[in-house]
Amino acid sequence: MCMIYWRVAVIPIARPLIGAEEKHAVLEVLDSGMLAQGRQVQAFEEAFARVCQVGHAVATSSGTTALHIALLAHGIGSGDEVITTPFTFIASANAVLYTGARPVFVDIDPRTFNIDPEHIEAAITERTRAILPVHLYGLPADMDPILEIAGRHGLVVLEDACQAHGALYRGRPVGSFGTGCFSFYPTKNMTSAEGGMITTDDAELAEKCRVIRQHGMRRRYYHDELGYNFRMTDVHAAIGLAQLDKLARFNDARQANAAYLSSHLSEVTVPYVPDGCTHVFHQYTIRVAAARREGIVEGLKARDIGSMIYYPVPVHQQRPYRDLGYRQTLAQAEYAAQEVLSLPVHPSLDTRDLEAIASAVNELSMGGQDA
Ligand SMILES: Cc1ncc(COP(=O)(O)O)c(C=O)c1O
Repeated sequence: MCMIYWRVAVIPIARPLIGAEEKHAVLEVLDSGMLAQGRQVQAFEEAFARVCQVGHAVATSSGTTALHIALLAHGIGSGDEVITTPFTFIASANAVLYTGARPVFVDIDPRTFNIDPEHIEAAITERTRAILPVHLYGLPADMDPILEIAGRHGLVVLEDACQAHGALYRGRPVGSFGTGCFSFYPTKNMTSAEGGMITTDDAELAEKCRVIRQHGMRRRYYHDELGYNFRMTDVHAAIGLAQLDKLARFNDARQANAAYLSSHLSEVTVPYVPDGCTHVFHQYTIRVAAARREGIVEGLKARDIGSMIYYPVPVHQQRPYRDLGYRQTLAQAEYAAQEVLSLPVHPSLDTRDLEAIASAVNELSMGGQDA
């Protein structure tokens, strides 16, 4: 008889840390009988706004719906263009497509993997409405030039901060520069199981987001516009609130793990952190020679060490975008897709795990044999 079994990696690439606080908070909500969007969601919104140093936060069902709502609330839709990065999770660009607008991709800075502000201006047309930088892997995009270009051209700035809870750019939290969008998917720096958040200092915009989130409804069962059910439940918000309390500690642990890896990896290109940026290491992503990457992944797997390629195909080369006629070459994003490799960096790693990861990667990247 053929046995199929699932072998769990001893050092997984990600591991949500759910403790007694989250369990207790969820049970309290379940016992309360108030399960849908309610007091917990409001409390989570208020606490998250404080952490991001903004006036308003609007909780949503996911990071994708946060982006979708934020774009709609800015009036972005058919005929509009939004400048963004091709080197991201596909949701950043898909949210633009959902509104009927067109993502316009510009290449990345190969050192940071984030959108290269140098290329933005050349991509602006009379249809451009917004710039949507992504703080990839937990590293803030270079916001000063992005804000300067946006200001000069009257463009909206939407930050995809789905991977960057708590990251700082020149001492200020991401999500406070433009309209911020966060995800609480389980692998993120903090989770609510599924969920998202929009952050803004603009009270009117926050109100628009709330209306779109709830079927275009300001007064019960009077629908002023087309909206959606993109609400967060109180069960998810209760988990999110408990996790938010731990976010600083989680990020400290990620940063310490990243520092260990960067000082012990000798054969690969380790993450670059520009001056003025506080990286929160949602991912710890190295660059390796393209020809060696598969061997390293296989060698790590043989040692029960998880790794992942975020992302093997840039968005403009993904099938739905090819089908829409995207044909441009974005060389840096395309090279990065062939060379990046993310290693475990999550807060539950211990020193032995880190030693094992560093020595395995050093050995494998020199062409060492699998154990
Ligand atoms: C950069 C980026 N944008 C958007 C999203 C979408 O978030 P969610 O999965 O919560 O919809 C993610 C989540 O993986 C992401 O990493």
